Amino acid sequence: MTMIASDKGTQVICVSSGKGGVGKTSITVNVALALAQAGKRVLLVDGDLGLANVDIVLGLSVKHTVRETVEAGAALADILVQIEPGFFVLPASSGVPEMASLSVEEQNFLTNALEDMMGDFDYVLIDCAAGIGESVLWFNRWAEHSAVILAPDPTSMTDAYALIKVMAAQFGRQEFHVIVNNVKSQKEGAELFKSMAAVLKNFLRIEPQLLGIMPSDAAVSRAIRAQKPFFQAAPDAKASQAVKVLAERIIAQF
Ligand SMILES: Nc1ncnc2c1ncn2[C@@H]1O[C@H](COP(=O)(O)OP(=O)(O)OP(=O)(O)O)[C@@H](O)[C@H]1O
Ligand SMILES: [Mg+2]
Repeated sequence: MTMIASDKGTQVICVSSGKGGVGKTSITVNVALALAQAGKRVLLVDGDLGLANVDIVLGLSVKHTVRETVEAGAALADILVQIEPGFFVLPASSGVPEMASLSVEEQNFLTNALEDMMGDFDYVLIDCAAGIGESVLWFNRWAEHSAVILAPDPTSMTDAYALIKVMAAQFGRQEFHVIVNNVKSQKEGAELFKSMAAVLKNFLRIEPQLLGIMPSDAAVSRAIRAQKPFFQAAPDAKASQAVKVLAERIIAQF
């Protein structure tokens, strides 16, 4: 690849959620496609290192994974899979528990390798594992920006709160970007954000930013079953329109 990053430099955005199954992989994959369609160069890192997700949503059959870099020193550039012009994926391994808990040396080795080639991209998106495990914390700490996904159920709210609290305590992160997913209306999304923001302000003195609201849309689950991103399979779906808006906000803000 001989590409040159834009003036802003590479922006790294880590997408996490606390609770699992709230839409991290669906959102990051489709936003990556929308950013690439807008002419940006995007690297999507499957941050669920031991239980890969991104390859499934994209219907990829992956031959090489980040495990070969961590365990055998393979060059990251040889592992990347090009999906579209300007859109590359760094695939993770599935069913490899030791990849989920890398030593500090292994974490550093991986982030150094990422830093070496990051300059080729405008955006690096990380689709994190669920929970508040080690990899979630060190990926977020490494990333410049932390985006947290909320869904309407109460446990998603409490888990997102817990994740934000841990990040603030462990490495002093104060800026968080919230994406509300799977809501029936913009109003529902705005209200969820408002109640989360109130709790964060009250207990942690943190004022999160609202990055976007994603509607509940059958096109999302259909696309997962078909292993084809909804942004491509159903460009006119409500979810695809919302992803486009989300990508525009990302370009404007980061
Ligand atoms: N906006 C939406 N509308 C309808 N269904 C959705 C939406 N977002 C997510 N889903 C459904 O929720 C399920 C989980 O989505 P996804 O795999 O993207 O979540 P995740 O946060 O990556 O999960 P995990 O924590 O397991 O990695 C999917 O099967 C999808 O069908
Ligand atoms: Mg996922």
